[in-house]
Amino acid sequence: MPKRTARTTIPIADSRYDGGVPAMAPGARAPEGVFTDQFGRRLHDLRISVTDRCNFRCTYCMPKAVFGRDHAFLPQSSLLSFEEITRVAGIFVAHGVEKIRLTGGEPLLRKNLDRLVGMLAQLRTPSGRRPELTLTTNGALLRRLARPLREAGLDRLTVSLDSLDDAVFRQMNDVDCPVGDVLDGIAAAGQAGFERIKINMVVKRGVNDDGIVPMAAHFRGSPCIVRFIEFMDVGSSNGWRLDDVVPGAEVIRRLDEAFGIEPAAPNYRGEVARRWRYRDGAGEVGVISSVTRPFCADCSRARLSTEGKLFTCLFATHGHDLRALLRNGVDDAGLGAAIAAIWGARDDRYSELRSDATVGLRKIEMSYIGG
Ligand code: GTP
Ligand code: 5AD
Ligand code: SF4
Ligand code: SF4
Repeated sequence: MPKRTARTTIPIADSRYDGGVPAMAPGARAPEGVFTDQFGRRLHDLRISVTDRCNFRCTYCMPKAVFGRDHAFLPQSSLLSFEEITRVAGIFVAHGVEKIRLTGGEPLLRKNLDRLVGMLAQLRTPSGRRPELTLTTNGALLRRLARPLREAGLDRLTVSLDSLDDAVFRQMNDVDCPVGDVLDGIAAAGQAGFERIKINMVVKRGVNDDGIVPMAAHFRGSPCIVRFIEFMDVGSSNGWRLDDVVPGAEVIRRLDEAFGIEPAAPNYRGEVARRWRYRDGAGEVGVISSVTRPFCADCSRARLSTEGKLFTCLFATHGHDLRALLRNGVDDAGLGAAIAAIWGARDDRYSELRSDATVGLRKIEMSYIGG
């Protein structure tokens, strides 16, 4: 039998990485102090994980077989304090980061999260702007927490919701959380003043793909924007198989057949979701195709884990320990120089290189680093 080699059938036909489409215009120089990597990609977006715990056990993220009762989560003493998070975020913002996303695990499990939001809301970019503050949640605790978060300065919200069918949803979250709780949370967020809430649906073939059209139909004409996400091989425990991925192109075809959609221009360079709008004016949807149509060429995202490790890719196998620097008394210039060196050495483009060999690597888990 021939030796099995790296699989090349993962359809990355649309991927162009001939040196990349840099995150800056060709020939442009990064403004003074802005961090750029080996491919000229500017650091623009910081995602901060505030807890590695979650009240769900989504089968594609924290399967119970791995994240069971005896799973060792990070002890309290390992977590960055709000003061430490704000200090690190302040360095990023001083160097050009304009968007901060709070993630987890489930970020709403972190006590007094509104206090952290209030602290981050005090930060200013060199041109005096406040960075945009966003958060991704499973929505189960939103009913109570949406208002205090909004009042503390949170600008935008993304809620994960994989199905509107209660049985399918309970099976996917694996903790028996009913769909109604998440829908109530989304409604409460709207009442608290959040506009254009994004709804993330991870699509797995044979599990919830028959819910694509119903999900779109439910939010069509509402202020919410549904995004369909290809199931990804994040971490090492979700049993990812290419056969379980529903390509974004198929999602688009199904939506077009049901409603009629047309492409819309990106909101900003490097936007993860490809936007499509309903031809009849009933709003828009997004499709996030990290597997079949990677977007590494414009990737401007850094990730800070709950315990202060900096990761330069969602699929990284190791991070850089900023907490050790912080707790050893580094000054702001030293911290900035360390981050500049880490980002400057970055040459990640995992989704473009994905193969059998990379799928099997021991990557960090999504629940640890955030989405
Ligand atoms: P906005 O455009 O500001 O709303 O944010 P976003 O599109 O980055 O949204 P969000 O952070 O909710 O990302 C949506 C999903 O896309 C995540 O939950 C991930 O599943 C996926 N994603 C986000 N960033 C990356 C990335 O850098 N690489 C890969 N492969 N997937 C990503
Ligand atoms: N593939 C794609 N998306 C995932 N998410 C979590 N795990 C995966 C995966 N394996 C999504 C969540 C949430 C965001 C943080 O990432 O559903 O919307
Ligand atoms: Fe599900 Fe998000 Fe929790 Fe993972 S972190 S188990 S995707 S709710
Ligand atoms: Fe960025 Fe890594 Fe995702 Fe590519 S795979 S878009 S480099 S986080």
